[in-house]
Amino acid sequence: MKLFHFTDLEKKAESILGSHPFTYIKSGSGDEETLGDNIADLRKWKIRPKFLQDVSKRDLSISLFGKNYKTPYLLAPVGNLGIVHPEAELAVSRAAKQVGVPIIASTVTSVSMEEIAAEAGDRWFQLYCSSDMDITLSFIRRAEQAGYGAIVITVDMPALGFRASDLTNQYAPFKLGAASGNYFSDPVFQKKLACSPSKDFQRAVDEQLKHLFAPGFSWEDVAALRMATDLPILLKGILHPSDAKKAMEFELDGIIVSNHGGRQLDGCISSIAALPAIVDEVGGRIPVLFDSGIRKGADVVKALALGADAVLLGRPYVYGLAINGEEGVKEVLDNFIYDLDATMATAGVNAVSALDRDLLVRT
Ligand code: FNR
Repeated sequence: MKLFHFTDLEKKAESILGSHPFTYIKSGSGDEETLGDNIADLRKWKIRPKFLQDVSKRDLSISLFGKNYKTPYLLAPVGNLGIVHPEAELAVSRAAKQVGVPIIASTVTSVSMEEIAAEAGDRWFQLYCSSDMDITLSFIRRAEQAGYGAIVITVDMPALGFRASDLTNQYAPFKLGAASGNYFSDPVFQKKLACSPSKDFQRAVDEQLKHLFAPGFSWEDVAALRMATDLPILLKGILHPSDAKKAMEFELDGIIVSNHGGRQLDGCISSIAALPAIVDEVGGRIPVLFDSGIRKGADVVKALALGADAVLLGRPYVYGLAINGEEGVKEVLDNFIYDLDATMATAGVNAVSALDRDLLVRT
Protein backbone atom coordinates (compact mmCIF):
# COMPACT_ATOMS: atom_id res chain seq x y z
CA MET A 1 0.00 0.00 0.00
CA LYS A 2 2.70 2.49 1.13
CA LEU A 3 0.28 5.40 1.37
CA PHE A 4 1.24 7.97 3.98
CA HIS A 5 -0.99 10.97 3.23
CA PHE A 6 -4.67 10.84 4.12
CA THR A 7 -5.49 12.31 0.71
CA ASP A 8 -3.61 9.49 -1.02
CA LEU A 9 -5.52 6.89 1.02
CA GLU A 10 -8.75 8.59 0.07
CA LYS A 11 -7.91 8.72 -3.63
CA LYS A 12 -6.89 5.07 -3.77
CA ALA A 13 -10.00 3.98 -1.84
CA GLU A 14 -12.17 5.91 -4.28
CA SER A 15 -10.65 4.07 -7.24
CA ILE A 16 -11.39 0.72 -5.58
CA LEU A 17 -14.80 1.31 -4.04
CA GLY A 18 -16.54 3.08 -6.87
CA SER A 19 -18.54 6.23 -6.62
CA HIS A 20 -21.57 5.48 -4.44
CA PRO A 21 -20.01 3.43 -1.62
CA PHE A 22 -17.03 5.79 -1.54
CA THR A 23 -19.29 8.82 -1.31
CA TYR A 24 -21.24 7.19 1.52
CA ILE A 25 -18.02 6.96 3.55
CA LYS A 26 -16.43 10.22 2.57
CA SER A 27 -19.36 12.57 2.73
CA GLY A 28 -21.00 14.51 5.52
CA SER A 29 -24.52 15.76 5.95
CA GLY A 30 -25.92 18.89 4.31
CA ASP A 31 -23.33 20.88 2.38
CA GLU A 32 -20.57 19.52 4.63
CA GLU A 33 -19.93 22.71 6.59
CA THR A 34 -19.24 20.74 9.76
CA LEU A 35 -17.22 18.05 7.97
CA GLY A 36 -14.93 20.81 6.68
CA ASP A 37 -14.77 22.62 10.02
CA ASN A 38 -13.61 19.45 11.80
CA ILE A 39 -10.41 19.61 9.76
CA ALA A 40 -10.09 23.40 9.45
CA ASP A 41 -10.52 24.04 13.19
CA LEU A 42 -7.89 21.47 14.11
CA ARG A 43 -5.51 23.40 11.86
CA LYS A 44 -6.20 26.66 13.69
CA TRP A 45 -4.33 25.19 16.64
CA LYS A 46 -0.55 25.16 16.20
CA ILE A 47 2.04 23.24 18.15
CA ARG A 48 4.63 25.40 19.92
CA PRO A 49 7.53 23.03 20.52
CA LYS A 50 10.00 23.28 23.38
CA PHE A 51 13.42 21.84 22.57
CA LEU A 52 16.31 20.29 24.46
CA GLN A 53 13.97 18.02 26.34
CA ASP A 54 15.12 14.43 26.67
CA VAL A 55 12.93 12.61 24.18
CA SER A 56 15.14 9.54 23.83
CA LYS A 57 12.30 7.41 25.22
CA ARG A 58 8.68 8.16 24.28
CA ASP A 59 5.75 6.73 26.16
CA LEU A 60 2.56 6.63 24.09
CA SER A 61 0.63 4.58 26.62
CA ILE A 62 -2.62 5.49 28.32
CA SER A 63 -4.93 3.84 30.77
CA LEU A 64 -8.73 3.68 30.62
CA PHE A 65 -11.05 2.04 33.13
CA GLY A 66 -8.12 0.41 34.88
CA LYS A 67 -6.58 -1.07 31.74
CA ASN A 68 -3.34 -0.02 30.09
CA TYR A 69 -3.08 0.45 26.34
CA LYS A 70 0.10 0.87 24.30
CA THR A 71 -1.21 3.89 22.40
CA PRO A 72 -4.00 6.49 22.76
CA TYR A 73 -5.84 5.12 19.69
CA LEU A 74 -9.14 3.30 19.43
CA LEU A 75 -11.00 2.42 16.26
CA ALA A 76 -14.26 4.35 15.94
CA PRO A 77 -17.45 2.40 15.35
CA VAL A 78 -18.20 2.38 11.63
CA GLY A 79 -21.24 0.52 10.37
CA ASN A 80 -21.93 -1.06 7.00
CA LEU A 81 -18.34 -2.19 6.41
CA GLY A 82 -19.67 -5.00 4.24
CA ILE A 83 -19.81 -2.45 1.41
CA VAL A 84 -16.09 -1.75 1.85
CA HIS A 85 -14.48 -5.20 1.92
CA PRO A 86 -15.74 -8.80 1.97
CA GLU A 87 -13.99 -9.45 5.30
CA ALA A 88 -15.43 -6.23 6.72
CA GLU A 89 -15.28 -5.98 10.53
CA LEU A 90 -13.42 -9.28 10.84
CA ALA A 91 -10.42 -7.88 8.95
CA VAL A 92 -10.57 -4.71 11.06
CA SER A 93 -10.69 -6.76 14.28
CA ARG A 94 -7.68 -8.88 13.30
CA ALA A 95 -5.60 -5.86 12.31
CA ALA A 96 -6.42 -3.96 15.49
CA LYS A 97 -5.57 -7.01 17.60
CA GLN A 98 -2.17 -7.34 15.91
CA VAL A 99 -1.35 -3.73 16.72
CA GLY A 100 -2.91 -3.75 20.20
CA VAL A 101 -5.54 -1.10 19.50
CA PRO A 102 -9.06 -1.59 20.91
CA ILE A 103 -12.01 -1.57 18.54
CA ILE A 104 -15.45 -0.16 19.15
CA ALA A 105 -17.76 -2.44 17.19
CA SER A 106 -20.83 -0.73 15.76
CA THR A 107 -24.40 -1.89 16.28
CA VAL A 108 -24.82 -1.92 12.52
CA THR A 109 -22.05 -4.29 11.51
CA SER A 110 -22.35 -6.72 8.63
CA VAL A 111 -21.54 -9.69 10.91
CA SER A 112 -22.61 -10.35 14.49
CA MET A 113 -20.86 -9.07 17.59
CA GLU A 114 -20.07 -12.68 18.56
CA GLU A 115 -18.27 -13.30 15.25
CA ILE A 116 -16.31 -10.09 15.77
CA ALA A 117 -15.46 -11.07 19.35
CA ALA A 118 -13.97 -14.34 18.10
CA GLU A 119 -11.38 -12.37 16.05
CA ALA A 120 -10.87 -9.26 18.13
CA GLY A 121 -8.59 -8.31 20.99
CA ASP A 122 -9.81 -5.49 23.25
CA ARG A 123 -13.31 -4.52 22.21
CA TRP A 124 -16.13 -2.21 23.21
CA PHE A 125 -19.64 -2.30 21.85
CA GLN A 126 -21.33 0.77 20.33
CA LEU A 127 -25.04 0.84 20.92
CA TYR A 128 -27.65 2.49 18.78
CA CYS A 129 -30.56 2.20 21.16
CA SER A 130 -33.44 0.54 19.39
CA SER A 131 -36.95 1.93 19.58
CA ASP A 132 -37.63 -1.48 21.15
CA MET A 133 -36.09 -1.62 24.66
CA ASP A 134 -36.12 -5.45 24.66
CA ILE A 135 -33.79 -5.47 21.66
CA THR A 136 -31.54 -2.85 23.26
CA LEU A 137 -31.27 -4.92 26.45
CA SER A 138 -30.62 -8.06 24.43
CA PHE A 139 -27.70 -6.32 22.68
CA ILE A 140 -26.25 -5.33 26.06
CA ARG A 141 -26.54 -8.90 27.40
CA ARG A 142 -24.90 -10.29 24.29
CA ALA A 143 -22.07 -7.76 24.51
CA GLU A 144 -21.45 -8.72 28.14
CA GLN A 145 -21.38 -12.39 27.24
CA ALA A 146 -19.09 -11.86 24.26
CA GLY A 147 -16.46 -10.11 26.37
CA TYR A 148 -16.95 -6.50 25.33
CA GLY A 149 -15.33 -4.20 27.89
CA ALA A 150 -17.61 -1.15 27.64
CA ILE A 151 -20.84 0.06 26.10
CA VAL A 152 -20.68 3.21 23.97
CA ILE A 153 -24.12 4.72 23.52
CA THR A 154 -24.20 6.96 20.46
CA VAL A 155 -26.57 9.82 21.20
CA ASP A 156 -26.24 11.96 18.09
CA MET A 157 -28.40 9.79 15.83
CA PRO A 158 -32.04 10.18 16.95
CA ALA A 159 -32.66 10.18 13.20
CA LEU A 160 -30.41 9.90 10.19
CA GLY A 161 -28.89 13.26 9.25
CA PHE A 162 -29.73 14.94 5.94
CA ARG A 163 -27.20 13.03 3.83
CA ALA A 164 -27.48 15.08 0.67
CA SER A 165 -24.87 13.14 -1.33
CA ASP A 166 -26.42 9.73 -0.62
CA LEU A 167 -29.86 11.13 -1.41
CA THR A 168 -28.51 12.39 -4.72
CA ASN A 169 -27.02 8.97 -5.44
CA GLN A 170 -30.10 7.18 -4.11
CA TYR A 171 -27.68 5.04 -2.12
CA ALA A 172 -28.78 3.53 1.21
CA PRO A 173 -26.52 0.72 2.45
CA PHE A 174 -28.82 0.06 5.44
CA LYS A 175 -31.41 -1.10 2.93
CA LEU A 176 -28.90 -3.49 1.33
CA GLY A 177 -28.62 -5.47 4.56
CA ALA A 178 -24.96 -4.49 5.05
CA ALA A 179 -25.83 -3.52 8.62
CA SER A 180 -27.90 -6.49 9.75
CA GLY A 181 -25.33 -8.72 11.49
CA ASN A 182 -26.51 -7.98 15.02
CA TYR A 183 -30.22 -7.73 14.31
CA PHE A 184 -30.56 -10.92 12.28
CA SER A 185 -28.64 -12.90 14.91
CA ASP A 186 -30.62 -11.46 17.83
CA PRO A 187 -33.02 -13.87 19.57
CA VAL A 188 -35.39 -11.08 20.65
CA PHE A 189 -35.52 -9.57 17.15
CA GLN A 190 -35.98 -13.03 15.62
CA LYS A 191 -38.95 -13.71 17.88
CA LYS A 192 -40.63 -10.47 16.87
CA LEU A 193 -39.95 -11.08 13.22
CA ALA A 194 -42.67 -13.09 11.60
CA CYS A 195 -40.33 -14.31 8.84
CA SER A 196 -36.85 -15.75 8.48
CA PRO A 197 -34.16 -13.38 7.12
CA SER A 198 -32.79 -16.17 4.94
CA LYS A 199 -36.20 -16.67 3.28
CA ASP A 200 -37.57 -13.12 3.20
CA PHE A 201 -34.48 -10.96 3.33
CA GLN A 202 -35.97 -7.64 2.27
CA ARG A 203 -38.85 -7.88 4.71
CA ALA A 204 -36.41 -8.61 7.54
CA VAL A 205 -34.27 -5.61 6.56
CA ASP A 206 -37.33 -3.37 6.49
CA GLU A 207 -38.35 -4.63 9.93
CA GLN A 208 -34.86 -3.87 11.25
CA LEU A 209 -35.04 -0.34 9.87
CA LYS A 210 -38.24 0.25 11.85
CA HIS A 211 -36.40 -0.52 15.08
CA LEU A 212 -33.04 1.00 14.29
CA PHE A 213 -33.48 4.55 15.53
CA ALA A 214 -35.00 5.65 18.80
CA PRO A 215 -35.98 9.32 18.46
CA GLY A 216 -37.78 9.11 21.81
CA PHE A 217 -34.66 7.94 23.67
CA SER A 218 -34.01 10.28 26.60
CA TRP A 219 -32.08 10.66 29.84
CA GLU A 220 -34.61 8.45 31.66
CA ASP A 221 -33.71 5.62 29.27
CA VAL A 222 -30.03 6.27 29.95
CA ALA A 223 -30.79 5.85 33.66
CA ALA A 224 -32.48 2.51 32.91
CA LEU A 225 -29.46 1.32 30.92
CA ARG A 226 -27.16 2.43 33.74
CA MET A 227 -29.10 0.05 36.01
CA ALA A 228 -29.00 -2.71 33.39
CA THR A 229 -25.24 -3.27 33.20
CA ASP A 230 -22.10 -3.08 35.29
CA LEU A 231 -19.96 -2.44 32.23
CA PRO A 232 -18.57 1.08 31.86
CA ILE A 233 -20.95 3.22 29.78
CA LEU A 234 -19.75 6.09 27.59
CA LEU A 235 -21.91 8.54 25.66
CA LYS A 236 -20.66 9.25 22.13
CA GLY A 237 -21.56 12.45 20.33
CA ILE A 238 -21.40 14.92 23.21
CA LEU A 239 -20.77 18.54 22.12
CA HIS A 240 -22.28 20.62 24.93
CA PRO A 241 -20.67 20.93 28.39
CA SER A 242 -24.09 20.65 30.05
CA ASP A 243 -24.58 17.18 28.49
CA ALA A 244 -21.16 16.21 29.83
CA LYS A 245 -22.25 17.38 33.27
CA LYS A 246 -25.44 15.39 32.99
CA ALA A 247 -23.53 12.28 31.96
CA MET A 248 -21.64 12.50 35.25
CA GLU A 249 -24.86 13.10 37.20
CA PHE A 250 -26.23 9.91 35.65
CA GLU A 251 -23.11 8.07 36.83
CA LEU A 252 -21.81 7.28 33.40
CA ASP A 253 -18.18 6.39 33.01
CA GLY A 254 -16.96 8.43 30.07
CA ILE A 255 -17.86 10.60 27.12
CA ILE A 256 -16.74 10.85 23.54
CA VAL A 257 -16.67 14.33 22.07
CA SER A 258 -17.71 13.79 18.47
CA ASN A 259 -20.00 15.09 15.77
CA HIS A 260 -20.11 11.75 13.98
CA GLY A 261 -17.51 12.90 11.47
CA GLY A 262 -19.83 15.68 10.25
CA ARG A 263 -22.43 13.14 9.15
CA GLN A 264 -25.31 14.16 11.39
CA LEU A 265 -26.05 17.81 12.25
CA ASP A 266 -24.57 20.00 9.55
CA GLY A 267 -23.78 23.48 10.83
CA CYS A 268 -22.92 22.22 14.30
CA ILE A 269 -19.74 23.06 16.14
CA SER A 270 -16.58 21.23 15.10
CA SER A 271 -15.50 18.53 17.45
CA ILE A 272 -12.20 20.22 18.35
CA ALA A 273 -14.00 23.50 19.06
CA ALA A 274 -16.27 21.65 21.49
CA LEU A 275 -13.47 19.85 23.32
CA PRO A 276 -11.90 22.43 25.71
CA ALA A 277 -15.14 23.51 27.41
CA ILE A 278 -16.14 19.88 27.93
CA VAL A 279 -12.74 18.97 29.35
CA ASP A 280 -13.07 21.92 31.75
CA GLU A 281 -16.57 20.87 32.80
CA VAL A 282 -15.52 17.26 33.41
CA GLY A 283 -12.41 18.28 35.36
CA GLY A 284 -10.76 14.88 35.10
CA ARG A 285 -13.56 12.99 36.87
CA ILE A 286 -14.28 10.67 33.91
CA PRO A 287 -12.35 10.02 30.69
CA VAL A 288 -13.06 12.29 27.72
CA LEU A 289 -12.35 10.70 24.35
CA PHE A 290 -12.33 12.53 21.02
CA ASP A 291 -13.04 11.95 17.34
CA SER A 292 -14.01 13.67 14.09
CA GLY A 293 -11.21 15.06 11.96
CA ILE A 294 -8.13 13.10 13.06
CA ARG A 295 -6.00 12.73 9.93
CA LYS A 296 -2.41 12.74 11.21
CA GLY A 297 -0.22 12.60 14.30
CA ALA A 298 -0.29 16.36 14.87
CA ASP A 299 -4.12 16.22 15.11
CA VAL A 300 -3.79 13.58 17.81
CA VAL A 301 -1.26 15.68 19.74
CA LYS A 302 -3.62 18.68 19.56
CA ALA A 303 -6.64 16.75 20.82
CA LEU A 304 -4.66 15.18 23.66
CA ALA A 305 -3.04 18.51 24.58
CA LEU A 306 -6.51 20.06 24.78
CA GLY A 307 -7.41 17.42 27.33
CA ALA A 308 -8.70 14.33 25.51
CA ASP A 309 -7.62 11.03 27.09
CA ALA A 310 -7.68 9.09 23.82
CA VAL A 311 -8.73 9.52 20.19
CA LEU A 312 -10.81 7.44 17.80
CA LEU A 313 -9.80 6.92 14.19
CA GLY A 314 -12.64 6.79 11.68
CA ARG A 315 -12.37 7.23 7.92
CA PRO A 316 -8.58 6.62 7.66
CA TYR A 317 -8.83 2.97 8.73
CA VAL A 318 -11.91 2.42 6.56
CA TYR A 319 -9.88 3.50 3.55
CA GLY A 320 -7.09 1.11 4.60
CA LEU A 321 -9.70 -1.67 4.71
CA ALA A 322 -10.98 -0.79 1.25
CA ILE A 323 -7.49 -0.79 -0.24
CA ASN A 324 -5.97 -3.88 1.33
CA GLY A 325 -8.22 -5.52 3.91
CA GLU A 326 -6.60 -6.54 7.20
CA GLU A 327 -3.11 -5.53 6.00
CA GLY A 328 -4.43 -2.15 4.89
CA VAL A 329 -5.96 -1.41 8.29
CA LYS A 330 -2.76 -2.52 9.99
CA GLU A 331 -0.65 -0.27 7.79
CA VAL A 332 -2.84 2.73 8.57
CA LEU A 333 -2.55 2.03 12.29
CA ASP A 334 1.21 1.50 12.14
CA ASN A 335 1.60 4.81 10.30
CA PHE A 336 -0.58 6.68 12.82
CA ILE A 337 1.53 5.29 15.68
CA TYR A 338 4.78 6.17 13.90
CA ASP A 339 3.49 9.66 13.10
CA LEU A 340 2.37 10.31 16.69
CA ASP A 341 5.72 9.13 18.04
CA ALA A 342 7.64 11.36 15.61
CA THR A 343 5.35 14.32 16.27
CA MET A 344 5.81 14.03 20.03
CA ALA A 345 9.60 13.77 19.69
CA THR A 346 9.83 16.79 17.40
CA ALA A 347 7.54 18.77 19.69
CA GLY A 348 9.77 17.99 22.68
CA VAL A 349 7.27 15.79 24.53
CA ASN A 350 8.23 12.36 25.81
CA ALA A 351 4.92 11.05 27.13
CA VAL A 352 1.26 11.31 26.21
CA SER A 353 0.64 12.07 29.87
CA ALA A 354 2.86 15.17 29.56
CA LEU A 355 0.79 16.77 26.78
CA ASP A 356 -0.99 19.92 27.93
CA ARG A 357 -2.41 23.16 26.59
CA ASP A 358 0.87 25.01 27.06
CA LEU A 359 2.05 23.18 23.95
CA LEU A 360 -0.54 24.87 21.73
CA VAL A 361 -1.42 28.31 20.46
CA ARG A 362 -4.58 29.16 18.59
CA THR A 363 -3.89 31.17 15.45
C1 FNR B 1 -19.55 6.38 11.14
N1 FNR B 1 -19.71 6.69 12.49
C2 FNR B 1 -20.48 5.86 13.29
N2 FNR B 1 -20.62 6.13 14.61
C3 FNR B 1 -21.33 5.29 15.41
O1 FNR B 1 -21.45 5.57 16.61
N3 FNR B 1 -21.90 4.15 14.89
C4 FNR B 1 -21.82 3.83 13.57
O2 FNR B 1 -22.33 2.81 13.14
C5 FNR B 1 -21.11 4.73 12.72
N4 FNR B 1 -21.03 4.48 11.38
C6 FNR B 1 -20.24 5.28 10.58
C7 FNR B 1 -20.09 4.98 9.24
C8 FNR B 1 -19.22 5.73 8.44
C9 FNR B 1 -19.04 5.37 7.00
C10 FNR B 1 -18.49 6.79 9.02
C11 FNR B 1 -17.50 7.60 8.21
C12 FNR B 1 -18.67 7.12 10.34
C13 FNR B 1 -18.99 7.81 13.10
C14 FNR B 1 -17.61 7.37 13.58
O3 FNR B 1 -17.71 6.55 14.72
C15 FNR B 1 -16.73 8.59 13.98
O4 FNR B 1 -17.43 9.38 14.89
C16 FNR B 1 -16.32 9.41 12.75
O5 FNR B 1 -15.93 8.57 11.69
C17 FNR B 1 -15.20 10.35 13.11
O6 FNR B 1 -14.95 11.22 12.05
P1 FNR B 1 -13.73 11.03 11.01
O7 FNR B 1 -12.46 11.05 11.81
O8 FNR B 1 -13.96 9.77 10.28
O9 FNR B 1 -13.85 12.22 10.12
